[in-house]
Amino acid sequence: MKIGICTGGGDCPGLNAAIKAFVESSVSQHNSEIVGIYDSFDGLEERPLRTLRLGLAQVADIQEKGGTILGTCNSGKTFSDKSGAEQMTQVIDGFNQLGLEALVVIGGEGTQTMAKTLSTKIPVIGIPKTIDNDLPGTDQTIGFSSCVDLVADSVMRLRSTAESHHRVMVMEVMGRDSGYIALHGGIAGGANVILIPEIPFSIQAIQKTIEARHKRGINFSVIVVSEGATAKNQEAMYQEMVDGKKILGGIGQSLAHQLFKTSGIETRVTVLGHLQRGGAPNAADKILATRFAAHAADLVHREKFGELVVIKDSKIGSVRYQKIDPSVRRKIDLQDELLTAARVSGICLGS
Ligand code: F6P
Repeated sequence: MKIGICTGGGDCPGLNAAIKAFVESSVSQHNSEIVGIYDSFDGLEERPLRTLRLGLAQVADIQEKGGTILGTCNSGKTFSDKSGAEQMTQVIDGFNQLGLEALVVIGGEGTQTMAKTLSTKIPVIGIPKTIDNDLPGTDQTIGFSSCVDLVADSVMRLRSTAESHHRVMVMEVMGRDSGYIALHGGIAGGANVILIPEIPFSIQAIQKTIEARHKRGINFSVIVVSEGATAKNQEAMYQEMVDGKKILGGIGQSLAHQLFKTSGIETRVTVLGHLQRGGAPNAADKILATRFAAHAADLVHREKFGELVVIKDSKIGSVRYQKIDPSVRRKIDLQDELLTAARVSGICLGS
């Protein structure tokens, strides 16, 4: 078969591991020809078409490389409005011009929403990725585990400097409207307070935790706050980028100000930002990427299209695009056992 593959949305560790595993499985098991599409769907939409022939030699040494060798974009395009419909026609035309028989789309919520629409017109298979871990239908996405490692390591580093200076350290992490990165990274790093969008916080609850620690002779604390977390009855905070785009951010600074005002404790803020998306994948992400890609290759060669590869209860499988809405982001269930584990371990969740 002749198969296209692209990566869309924000990058993350493990994308190249997925590309490599897909190419190796498709070439060595099925003798297929793989065409890399540059910059998400853009490489199929623009003329001249922008592609890269992916043989075994091209992917031999990319497993550890961060980001994506195919490039990506997350400029917020959709295929749903009028101009989006024209873009989709161009993409389909590009697909046909190349003589492709299937398109494998590695992406998160935005990209998989587009892939779902596209899957009604051409044969598509999706592979889930995003550090945010917020794609519905799957328990985990490529990139999340490596991001959690980085967050955990950063919390541990902040703990030692917090302890030396008897300070409160606030660290803001990504995750949009879902708290997976903050909760998992915070627990693994030993944070004392973890604030997630799913649980609006009160300053008083945080202050009580810090004071209780002081009373026990522990005069430092580390707070991990998700970029989408909000104080009770308040809206999420956004920051304007130089290009005018608004992205979530600023809650770390605001929280530190409020804490300093109410308690007078010396407080510092770290915004982890895009460090969370960069760098090499960890072992767990390389394994997940390989499992997802091998399953995707199997689906493509069995011509079972219109499916998103997923992991559920530790088992790899797939769900029909038509059965899920990739645009409805997954959030932490308030009954999640990890929240209970955090609480009983003395971590303040802000309420
Ligand atoms: O989707 C991943 C993500 O990293 C979010 O957690 C974050 O809010 C956003 O991307 C930042 O995107 P950008 O690339 O536009 O800065």
